Amino acid sequence: MSDTLTPVLTASWGDERSWTLQAYEDRGGYGALKKALRQQPDEIIEQVKDSGLRGRGGAGFPTGMKWGFIPQDNPNPKYLVVNADESEPGTCKDIPLMMANPHVLVEGVIISSFAIRANTAFIYIRGEVLHVVRRVQKAVKEAYLAGHLGKDIHGSGYDLDVVVHAGAGAYICGEETALLEGLEGRRGQPRLRPPFPAVAGLYASPTVINNVESIASVPAIIDHGADWFASMGTEKSKGHGIFSLSGHVKNPGQFEAPLGITLRELIDLAGGMREGHELKFWTPGGSSTPLLTEEHLDVPLDFEGVGAAGSMLGTRALQVFDETTCVVRAVLRWTEFYKHESCGKCTPCREGTWWLVQTLARLERGEGQESDLDLLLDQCDNILGRSFCALGDGATSPISSSIKYFRDEYLAHLTHGGCPFDPAASTAFA
Ligand code: NAI
Ligand code: SF4
Repeated sequence: MSDTLTPVLTASWGDERSWTLQAYEDRGGYGALKKALRQQPDEIIEQVKDSGLRGRGGAGFPTGMKWGFIPQDNPNPKYLVVNADESEPGTCKDIPLMMANPHVLVEGVIISSFAIRANTAFIYIRGEVLHVVRRVQKAVKEAYLAGHLGKDIHGSGYDLDVVVHAGAGAYICGEETALLEGLEGRRGQPRLRPPFPAVAGLYASPTVINNVESIASVPAIIDHGADWFASMGTEKSKGHGIFSLSGHVKNPGQFEAPLGITLRELIDLAGGMREGHELKFWTPGGSSTPLLTEEHLDVPLDFEGVGAAGSMLGTRALQVFDETTCVVRAVLRWTEFYKHESCGKCTPCREGTWWLVQTLARLERGEGQESDLDLLLDQCDNILGRSFCALGDGATSPISSSIKYFRDEYLAHLTHGGCPFDPAASTAFA
């Protein structure tokens, strides 16, 4: 294993029955909880702030700052909600984490709930992955039986109940306010922000919503200290994170490394591109983040570096495509996904994603005209910044970026009268 890797959350993934309480405690699990319960809640918040941990769900909002927004003078109960609705195309880090090491999430939930003074926490898992729901439920049950959850945890006087909730299978429920709607039993559609959930979230009460990996990072911060975490990564993007590599690399998978690592290094760790092929384009954080190309191989994969390159770090879902992939086909496939998942609440996204698919499909079949490229960009302009939530904006990212880098390939579909690629040569989007 390379020195570049920093296995913390992934360290136990190869252990026998790594998901059990016994295996977790054998590695010192729940030690951070006992340490945390001897401190004041505000001390925990300060440590998380000092660590520089930023939200691992994609947006990168400082976690400790978010916890600090919870108004402690509000008489309503406070809630912690874990967003485990991982659905961004290409993103596969939270699900393997929950399968291999659910107790690090449960321990993180308890410490985080203690810090924000919540007595009830929810783990909202996408409904399609029943095996993950069952695994986390089992871990929660084990934690109750061991006294890590329930009343007067380890004699501290602190009580916490954890509810594992299975979603009903909609990408939009990963948007935090749509998730809250779903949790309250309504159709999952985003709410207007502000107020942000920290002020009025679940049942109109102060609610912290954090991604699985963010919460799972907390026990190690308490164990090893904020300075340890802050010593990794880059100036403004501290710590380590799980990068999921998929596509045309030899060994796709999850690689835990400091933020700021480059795609070139990650491809090396994944054994290189598949034999005889070269990188054509990639997504830094799933299909909602603008595409990048071979010229961006050395961009530091942190929030600032990827932003400066014209994209977003997002969920660190690095989908890697070689020269056999038709970019128009890939973008059409993603756009069909956004059209299908649009919740229908606002017109720019509901109608706009439908039009995007019509125009793109026409181009892909070689039946469009050159002016369709400007039409597509115009349609993107009418969605970007005009949609109610980030889904609409995200739908435009692969389109505008692919036209920026691969305009000639779009035009080649027109001159060729269809896709100029041999579909048998590519394994992507088969
Ligand atoms: P955002 O930047 O609007 O908010 C991020 C977080 O900070 C939220 O929890 C929000 O409540 C909080 N926040 C922001 N400003 C605040 C304020 N003034 N006061 C209190 N809290 C505040 O980002 P958003 O729309 O929540 O998420 C978008 C991201 O989600 C994208 O960057 C994308 O990468 C990611 N995403 C992840 C997916 C996945 O499967 N993990 C799926 C789709 C998108
Ligand atoms: Fe729904 Fe799309 Fe509007 Fe978001 S942008 S509220 S997903 S229709």
